[in-house]
Amino acid sequence: MLSFFPNPITTVQQYIHVAILFTWTDYKTILFPVATFACATAPLYSVFNLLQSVAWIWIHLLLCNVSNQARSKEEDAVNRPWRPLPSGRINQSQAIILRYWTVVICVLWSSSYGLDLIAVTIALIATTWLYDEGGASKTALGKNFCNVAGYVSFELGATKLMGAARQLDIVSTTAIFLSGALIFTTIQAQDFPDVDGDAASGRVTFPIYAPELSRAFTLCSVIAWSIGLGWYWHPGPMIKSVFIILGVYVGCRYYLWRAVEIDKKSYFIFNIWLICAHVLPVHARLGFLYF
Ligand SMILES: *[C@@H]1O[C@H](CO)[C@@H](O)[C@H](O)[C@H]1NC(C)=O
Repeated sequence: MLSFFPNPITTVQQYIHVAILFTWTDYKTILFPVATFACATAPLYSVFNLLQSVAWIWIHLLLCNVSNQARSKEEDAVNRPWRPLPSGRINQSQAIILRYWTVVICVLWSSSYGLDLIAVTIALIATTWLYDEGGASKTALGKNFCNVAGYVSFELGATKLMGAARQLDIVSTTAIFLSGALIFTTIQAQDFPDVDGDAASGRVTFPIYAPELSRAFTLCSVIAWSIGLGWYWHPGPMIKSVFIILGVYVGCRYYLWRAVEIDKKSYFIFNIWLICAHVLPVHARLGFLYF
């Protein structure tokens, strides 16, 4: 538990530890994939741009995650007992104060860049609000919509900061649009391992609502996207084949093997596939995926 008058060094360490725990499950699902996508798509201009972009993603991830976890203690206690709230490192009223501080910090952070990034921050704040306080996370469609809006906002902000110019061209815009559509049709992949906790907290995710259909849908959509993106970004034959084979493997895992432990691993492999899908636009920039 954070206390108010201890040794300042340990306090700072505790704050950092808590902040890292809040964002822990999403390094692999948001920070790393979005940074990789933005590097490939913008494309990356300098190390300084990389640092600024990653810092921007992380602080906004913290905003989303503190908001999300400040209210979902039950689900977390079942699925992830080490998180800051269920483990008692921070209490609910502290989390809610932190939730509003992150809003202020993110707006100030983006205002050091300009109106375009402030707009992206406000879009993320609005999506997060809709998701957590507006009740959108209670329905499968609302949840999906917010996730896509959130992910696209992360990509917009990160791509703007990663490249030489903040104005996005047609390649970046198309890549972000395709990414949004891809996420919209595959995001249920993350819900399969969480079915028990979600059911306990009354959430109706796609896998809970339609157990069979959601598996079949995941199979088809991952394979269709693998073929579609391989065609659209036209990398070389070897890259294209490996990407499609990985997609078929991920789709089949979800469809054929249905147990929590296996779903966790499938979700991990799904994320590798997702990163590959998000790196393909680099071919339109630098042309080095020709083999
Ligand atoms: C963290 O925030 C991201 C972005 O909104 C979201 O996709 C993810 O589900 C959140 N995770 C947690 C654990 O709050």
